[in-house]
Amino acid sequence: MPTKREYKDDYPDKTLYIPGPTEVREDVIEAMCEPMFGHRMDRMTDLYTTVVEDTKEFLDTDNHVVVLTGSGTEFMESSILNLVDERVLCTTCGSFSERQANVAERLGKTVDTLEYEWGKAVKPEDVREALETSDVEYDAVTCVMNESSTGVRNPVEEIGDVVAEYPDTSFVVDAVSSLGGDYVDIDAHGIDVIFTSVQKAFAMPPGLAVCVVSDDAYERELESDSASWYGGFQRTIDYYDRKGQTHSTPAIPVMLAYRTQMKHMLEEGHDARDERHRAMAEYTREWAREHFDTFPEAGYESQTVACIENTRGIDVAETIEAVSREYDMVFANGYGSQLGERTFRIGHMGEHDLESIEALTDAIEDVADL
Ligand SMILES: Cc1ncc(COP(=O)(O)O)c(C=O)c1O
Repeated sequence: MPTKREYKDDYPDKTLYIPGPTEVREDVIEAMCEPMFGHRMDRMTDLYTTVVEDTKEFLDTDNHVVVLTGSGTEFMESSILNLVDERVLCTTCGSFSERQANVAERLGKTVDTLEYEWGKAVKPEDVREALETSDVEYDAVTCVMNESSTGVRNPVEEIGDVVAEYPDTSFVVDAVSSLGGDYVDIDAHGIDVIFTSVQKAFAMPPGLAVCVVSDDAYERELESDSASWYGGFQRTIDYYDRKGQTHSTPAIPVMLAYRTQMKHMLEEGHDARDERHRAMAEYTREWAREHFDTFPEAGYESQTVACIENTRGIDVAETIEAVSREYDMVFANGYGSQLGERTFRIGHMGEHDLESIEALTDAIEDVADL
């Protein structure tokens, strides 16, 4: 049992370079400070329809968009409930893709895994082989776009093209740490479901999860015996179509923040945002190779999270602590017991730019005496 650690009122501000939550603009924080209004008022319809339609425009998709109070894990669960009656193929290559498989198992589904060593990427040809050699048709294939634990960016576009050859199989993509910072053409690659949390590359305060749902996925849910109530695609989309609102009370302040941040995102545009993130990723990779090494399989490095192999054997925990103490900047250790000290991670997403990433790498160089 943890003991109560009294929350204080005077924590120093830290600049976040962790793989989420990330830095949030001041006007986006301020947007939350409005007197409260009701979730069935016309004002809510204005807010939610703006949020949904702006998201479609930003992501350049004709699919449905659902924004619900919750975190990304909500859609890991509801995608399985909505689309999988019996059998799912989960591709796994790190902690979050393994979580997706675990969620499906706990929901009582038959889960086959296509497993990769942590640090390796999922290959479309292996997915093809798994689908071709399976005795049964899978209800769905799952894949993480950006495996935040290892810094791997999976080729979800090519994998989507393979799964699209199997019309009865839905393709579900966890894009939690990449959507908004790494361009993906959702509609062109048969991605039936792709979800994210807003505290990552969308650079918003946590509290909302976003899911983009194809017409096929919407229709398929009808046949499912166990569709999710809260995250049910039909319930959420039908409610939007009828009333322009969410089926239950949303985190209204965070939706106000969303509306303000989405204006900034539309102004910058998805392509320009992608370019900015690419530049940060290239810089961080080069820096990592100069001083350490990169952990992910070559050619599959993430555009939003650098996972750096600690080839010099620095004390990762102590370096993080010292950078935080001396520079008020926070980056992340490696994920879990497997990668804790063997790697460390830099989240270069959301509001960051080359200059702010350079400020962090300068601080690490100073503290670790590189
Ligand atoms: C790839 C990936 N999937 C899922 C999650 C879980 O997201 P949330 O904490 O918003 O539920 C995370 C969180 O870091 C993630 O990086």
